[in-house]
Amino acid sequence: MSYSSSSAGLVIRKAHILLSDDSWLLGDVQIRDGQIVRIASEIEETDDGELNAEGLTLLPGVIDPQVHFREPGLEHKEDLHSASHACAKGGVTSFLEMPNTKPITSTQAALDDKLQRAAQKSLVNYGFFIGATGENTADLLSVNPTPGIKIFMGSMKGDLLVDTEAALEPIFAEGERLIAVHAENQERIRQRKQLFAGFHDPSFHSLIQDNQTALEATQLALKLSKKYQRRLHILHLSTADEAQLLRQEKPAWVTTEVTPQHLLLNTSAYEKLGTLAQMNPPLKSPADNQVLWQALLDGVIDFIATDHAPHTLQEKAKRYPDTPAGMPGVETSLPLLLTQAMQGRCTVAQVANWMSKAVAKGYGIPNKGAIAVGYDADLVLVDLQSYYPVRREGLMTRCGWSPFEGWNLTGWPVTTIVGGEVVYDRGTFRDRPCGQALSFTGSTLSDAESSQDG
Ligand code: DOR
Repeated sequence: MSYSSSSAGLVIRKAHILLSDDSWLLGDVQIRDGQIVRIASEIEETDDGELNAEGLTLLPGVIDPQVHFREPGLEHKEDLHSASHACAKGGVTSFLEMPNTKPITSTQAALDDKLQRAAQKSLVNYGFFIGATGENTADLLSVNPTPGIKIFMGSMKGDLLVDTEAALEPIFAEGERLIAVHAENQERIRQRKQLFAGFHDPSFHSLIQDNQTALEATQLALKLSKKYQRRLHILHLSTADEAQLLRQEKPAWVTTEVTPQHLLLNTSAYEKLGTLAQMNPPLKSPADNQVLWQALLDGVIDFIATDHAPHTLQEKAKRYPDTPAGMPGVETSLPLLLTQAMQGRCTVAQVANWMSKAVAKGYGIPNKGAIAVGYDADLVLVDLQSYYPVRREGLMTRCGWSPFEGWNLTGWPVTTIVGGEVVYDRGTFRDRPCGQALSFTGSTLSDAESSQDG
């Protein structure tokens, strides 16, 4: 370990610190009782523990607002222990997890069960969405704490699929809680699956669930959100068409996100990755990559999520379309984006905004997402000077693979801190869980508006 611990607190020394106004300071950060208490160019000797951060860059910990961590019920793919270790290694200090576990998270009891499991296992902070089934309107209004209601408008089987306007409308009409949608038109998917039945080339996945499939569902979600002025978040935007629609009309109470996969991979990935490149919504064209990037830079897209969706190599080795859709992502998202920054595509401050500050604002997570006095000490020290490739060996996700294997990246986390506790340091993990349940104040309209500033 590169730090000395003390029961009093921790001082991080000589880091390049990204401050909350996007300016930089070469200096020290003092942490006490889980919070940042001082930031200065030089803090005098204290009886706190010390962490030498010379040559490293200090960023707010990543808040990943869309992950699938598989516990309970699908632990052979991932569980909260393996997933939160992957988070710690990737600089992700908080996550928001989706309800498609077994059982699904559609009641207070199921939510409480996940919270209890996370308290016993998670190295990082956690929040869990409540899933809409079309029949649990009362639960959607009453459960707590939750970042919001998840609706699968498409690409889902069973109770979590809510795919007709008639079933969606009452969910939008009742309550004020944030609604996050997986926007793909299930009826169009059904028709196109028939059209392409008998084809086993995984690249057909992007033809079946095409741009129109995503656009139609996004249009419907927007229509309902405008009708009821309902806080809407559109998950993993994947097409130029949706980005252009939102550029033209995006009410202040609507936010959206994009994944590193939809920014950096496209249909050409099937050739090398086969079914490993299969996800929902599917990868699209290089032109879609470009328009999504521009929309992110322009603030049309508010933040970044990984949609971490681990499946085993065995499951992925089946023949398309019997393969499950999804890719892991929490270990690689920050270095992927920081590498883009170092290559001049955006700034490091923009990356921190998309991966921390704007997420905290969008979901109303108090005291997180920035490095400032009084904020929670959820931090990541990254090395922006060396490049290392993504390697299958050493990945913490239980599924044991990444679509980005071989990519040479910079900005790898060296040390990750959650609530003032070092949870990851140069290959070593804290041996006890210390993640906390996140609280959500719910973003106000002006919060949603200001999340577009960056
Ligand atoms: O590709 C995906 N996989 N997209 C989703 O929305 C769900 C996820 C999963 O849970 O496997």
